Amino acid sequence: MFTPKEVKRILFTEDEISRYVNSLGERLTCDYSEKNPLFVCVLKGACVFFSDLIRRVECPLEIAFLSAESYCGTQSTGEVELSFDKLPEISGRYVVLVEDIVDTARTLSLVKEKLAARNPASIKVCCLLDKPSRRVVSGFTADYTGVEIDDLFVVGYGLDYDQRFRNLPYIGILEEP
Ligand code: PRP
Repeated sequence: MFTPKEVKRILFTEDEISRYVNSLGERLTCDYSEKNPLFVCVLKGACVFFSDLIRRVECPLEIAFLSAESYCGTQSTGEVELSFDKLPEISGRYVVLVEDIVDTARTLSLVKEKLAARNPASIKVCCLLDKPSRRVVSGFTADYTGVEIDDLFVVGYGLDYDQRFRNLPYIGILEEP
């Protein structure tokens, strides 16, 4: 298995990740079976989780993409750059925003605010990882969460450090840079 020297230890194996994704897929299948939801991948970090998750949701759905970026190295810049170029009309749609991780929640709170102005029927958030101890936007919670984690810098399964390590099939803890 490819384990870069910067990865201190594995936090979640592929099997453990699969269990979280399956469980989220089951819940979303129950809640959206009659709604033809629009699942929106928040690029880039969510791309791997998104592709696994949508295959665990057993009802009709459509997909779309937007991009959001706010990290430089291990630090949030506090400024979120958004691009909605690939987003279709969402008025009246049941939107599920899919994220790899909620940290300060600056990204998702801004994305939700911008999308809410486009009059969807609802907007819910599904994240694989949640770091509640790092919240800056107080009170922000995801509607569907795979697992809560401590304040660790994690990489793999789509998550990066300076654009590296997204291709690791597991989630690992990065050695302090
Ligand atoms: C990461 C992650 C989330 C966001 C979460 O994205 O994918 O979008 O940070 O952090 P927050 O809750 O503090 O806003 P990043 O800005 O690193 O861009 P990326 O998705 O392209 O990796």
